[in-house]
Amino acid sequence: MTGLAKPAVRWGVTHGLPRAALRVAARRGDLQARLFVESATRPTRALTGLFDEVRAHGSLSRGTFSYLTASHAVVREVLGSNDFRSGITPAAGMWGRLAEWSAAEFLHPMTPPSLLVTEPPDHTRYRRLVTRVFTVRAVENLRARTTEIANELLDALDPNDEVDLAETYCGLLPVTVIAEVLGVPAAQRRQVLTLGTAAAPSLDMGLPWRQFRRVDAALAAFDRWLAEHLDHLRAHPGDNLLSQLVAAREDGVGLNDMELRATAGLVLAAGFETTVNLLGNGIALLHDTPGALATLREDPELWPNAVDEILRVDPPVLLTGRTCARDTTVAGVAVPEGAVVTTILAGANHDPAVFEDPERFDVRRANARDHISFSAGRHYCLGAALARMEGEVGLRVLFERFPGLRLTPGATHRTTRILRGYEHLPARLID
Ligand code: HEM
Repeated sequence: MTGLAKPAVRWGVTHGLPRAALRVAARRGDLQARLFVESATRPTRALTGLFDEVRAHGSLSRGTFSYLTASHAVVREVLGSNDFRSGITPAAGMWGRLAEWSAAEFLHPMTPPSLLVTEPPDHTRYRRLVTRVFTVRAVENLRARTTEIANELLDALDPNDEVDLAETYCGLLPVTVIAEVLGVPAAQRRQVLTLGTAAAPSLDMGLPWRQFRRVDAALAAFDRWLAEHLDHLRAHPGDNLLSQLVAAREDGVGLNDMELRATAGLVLAAGFETTVNLLGNGIALLHDTPGALATLREDPELWPNAVDEILRVDPPVLLTGRTCARDTTVAGVAVPEGAVVTTILAGANHDPAVFEDPERFDVRRANARDHISFSAGRHYCLGAALARMEGEVGLRVLFERFPGLRLTPGATHRTTRILRGYEHLPARLID
C-alpha cells in the first residue's frame, strides 16, 4: 500500500481534484472546463463553435482556472512574450509540498528538464544541441529515405483487404523515420511506438486513476528503455543524433544524464506522437473534401500548402499554456504574475480575423501557413520542417499509389485531449 501512497497523492493533486473541479465548472458553463469535457468526446472540428464562444468573450477572457484565448493575435503574442514562461509553477503552501513529495522518479514530458517546460539559459543549451539535425536542409536529405519507407509500408499491405491506415501507415511512418534519425534499432521500433502511444495522455490533465497508472507505467518503461539504449550507444556509437548527444556529454559541454534522457525522449516521442495525427487527419480531410485530391493531381506543387492547410484545420495539438512571469497586460486585460493562460492553437487557426471562412478546407488557401499548430516563440516546434516533409511525402505517396482509396465506416478518434487524431482509420485501398 505504501508503494501506492505517492502515486495516489500525485494523481489527486494533478488529476483527481482538477478533474472533479472542472466537471463542476463545466456544468456552470465555464468555457475552459467545457473545453476540457468536450475535447475528450468530440473531434476538434466539432469544437469550433466553442472556440467562437471563447472569442465572443473577448480576445483574452478570464475563466475559473485560467485565462483563455482563441484569438490568433493573442495566442501569438502570449507564446512569443518574455512576460510568460512555459510550464505550470507548482502551487505554494500545502498543495505545493504535496506535489513535491509525490513527484515521480521517472521522466515526464511536462516536468523539467523536458524542453517543453524549461526556459533559458538551460532551454537554449538543450535546443542548441539538437536543432542542427532538424534544419530544413538536413530534413530535405531525409526525403528520399522517407519516400522509400512510405512505399515499403504500403507494399506490406494487402490491397484487396480492408486496412486500418492509422495503425499500419500513419503510426509507423513517423516512428520509422525518427528512429532512424536517432539510431534506434529496427527491432525495437514497435516497442518504442507502443510505449510512446501508451504515454501520449501524459500531456493531459484530469486523467482517471486507472489510465493515470497505465500512463505512469509506460513513462517509467520508456525511461528505462532510454537509459539502456543510451548505454548501448555509449559502447557502440553510430552516425545518429543520440550518439552525438552522448559524445557531447562526454566532452563535458553537453547534458547531464537526466537532461540527456529527457531531451532524447522528448525528441523521439514528439517525433511520432504528433505526425501520426497529421497523416490521419490529412487522409480524412483530403478524402472527405470534394475536389481536393483532383486539385493536387492537377497541380502537385500545392502539396506543401495542402499540408499546412491540414495543420490549420485539424491540428495535431489542441492547445498549450503559459504561466505569467510578471504582472502584465495582454489585449487590454491585466494578467497577474502566476496566472496561467491557456492558448488554444486550434482556436487561433480558426480565427475569422485571419482566415476567411475558417471552417472551409482549401488546399489553395493563400495564408494556410499562418497557422499556429507548431506553437510560436522560444518553444516553436523543433521538428516542424521534418513534420511538414513527412506529411507531404506520406500523403502524396499514399494517394498517388492508391487514387481510388476509400475510407470505410468505423473510424474512431483518440480520446487524448491535447494530442488530436484518429485511433482507427479503416480504408479500402482500391475500389
Ligand atoms: C505535425 C507534427 C507536429 C506538431 C503539430 C508539433 C507541435 C508542436 C508544438 C505545438 C510544440 C510546442 C508546445 C508549446 O509551445 O508548449 C512542439 C514542440 C516540440 N516539438 Fe513538435 N510537433 C510536431 C512534430 C514534431 C517532430 C517530428 C519532432 C521531432 C523532431 C518534434 C519535436 C518537438 C520538440 C523537441 C519540441 C519542444 C521544443 C521546445 O520546447 O523548445 N515535433 N511541437
